[in-house]
Amino acid sequence: MLSTNKTNKNELIPPVLVIFGITGDLAKKKLLPAIYHLIKDNLLPEGTTILGLTRQNLTDKDILSNVEVCVNEEDGICDPIAIKKLRDIMQVVQIDISKLGEFKKLKSALELVDKKANQKLNRLYYMSVPPNVTANIVSELGRHGLNKENSRLLIEKPFGFDYQSAKNLIKVISKFFTEDQIFRIDHYLAKETVQNILVFRRNNIFEKIWNSDNISSITITANEELDIEGRKVFYEETGALRDLIQSHLLMLLGITILDLPESMTSQNLHKAKLKALESISPITNSEIKFKTVRGQYVGYRSEVDNPKSNIDTFAAIKLSVATKRWHKVEFILKTGKALSEKLTTIEVQFKPNKIDLPHNSLIFRIQPHEDIKLKMYIKEPGFNVKTKIANLNLNYREEDIDVTHPDAYERVLVDSVKGDHSLFSTSSEILASWKIVNNVVKSWIINDNDLIAYKKGSTGPDISILSK
Ligand code: BG6
Repeated sequence: MLSTNKTNKNELIPPVLVIFGITGDLAKKKLLPAIYHLIKDNLLPEGTTILGLTRQNLTDKDILSNVEVCVNEEDGICDPIAIKKLRDIMQVVQIDISKLGEFKKLKSALELVDKKANQKLNRLYYMSVPPNVTANIVSELGRHGLNKENSRLLIEKPFGFDYQSAKNLIKVISKFFTEDQIFRIDHYLAKETVQNILVFRRNNIFEKIWNSDNISSITITANEELDIEGRKVFYEETGALRDLIQSHLLMLLGITILDLPESMTSQNLHKAKLKALESISPITNSEIKFKTVRGQYVGYRSEVDNPKSNIDTFAAIKLSVATKRWHKVEFILKTGKALSEKLTTIEVQFKPNKIDLPHNSLIFRIQPHEDIKLKMYIKEPGFNVKTKIANLNLNYREEDIDVTHPDAYERVLVDSVKGDHSLFSTSSEILASWKIVNNVVKSWIINDNDLIAYKKGSTGPDISILSK
């Protein structure tokens, strides 16, 4: 969402970024490349320190040698100065978080960093760990007095496994950290085009027609070409519905359908988003068979060494919203791994005109490239009065719009350092999103009779059943 916080980085107390799960997939692919880039662009406060926590006996060099920190560089060229600086500010703390008493090591490491800096630095605990470990870490931080006001908690998704576990997690965390100290990450909300939806919608011509009188359906798609890339344990515990739909796509839907507040402050936007999420009708048990489709790509079971796995690598759901504004509009959210292309879009389909033209649609493309397209009918040149579909295009590059904006994870890190909550999900939003899919999550665990196999590189299972 729109951040109004203009705090200068030099006015900020430098953070100690404590990364739980430094050798994990997320740290390798997103977090460390984002930190490298922020260092390169001089966007972190002077004096920032990184403590990478791992059970293994590793040095910072070992960890970084496994990471392509420059993966986001457009020209592919690494900046040696930024890389050196990343090494200089990074320390590894060997700690086994499953053992009682090990947090003393973290406490001493943090005290040493403060002592060297000659001040009490802000502490940012980044939970790049599975949800079942989070509660334990948070309790240990609390028990060791590492939860004081100068500490913040950054928690990766999925937040819990279902409604009840998310509720339990919120309860445990709230014993030690206040809502103000907690930053629940949804990196999709930090994507530039997603934030742009809110601005785009404020254009009067669109806001006036943003309702069920004019819109017939909204489809949010997050297709990935990549498979689970070896994340066996994570994926077997998660699946596509939790990994992308509950965690990201429902939040995108919330932004797309919320009632725009008069002023776009963080508080107003969170209020509007929660109201929108709470207006989405949860899928009931009897609706599961015609409102959901799930699939698994062929080869998945051997990748995860589980011949009976019923985990979804593809998921699609149909939703409805119980408000006058969205009455009878069809909402479809879909995502899948190992599909033919990477594509993330929000497609708003308008109703056909009453005379002769089929529907128009407005498509926000978020990935792989950003653009906004309005599909319109025009007259085909020639003597006949035939119509033809054409695109009104907003191409960021052609419009001379700077496309070198920060990566979503860079944005997440900078905002949490500043203490700006706009782009993070509140506990109520998380619970509202779990409520919508909770019956599906539970039902999919206990049976697999509707799991459709699809080939890697295909377009995934047929979801036409959802539009009937
Ligand atoms: C993460 C999921 O949240 O988002 C991954 O855990 C997924 O499974 C990733 O690949 C996709 O993010 P992006 O920004 O590449 O679309």
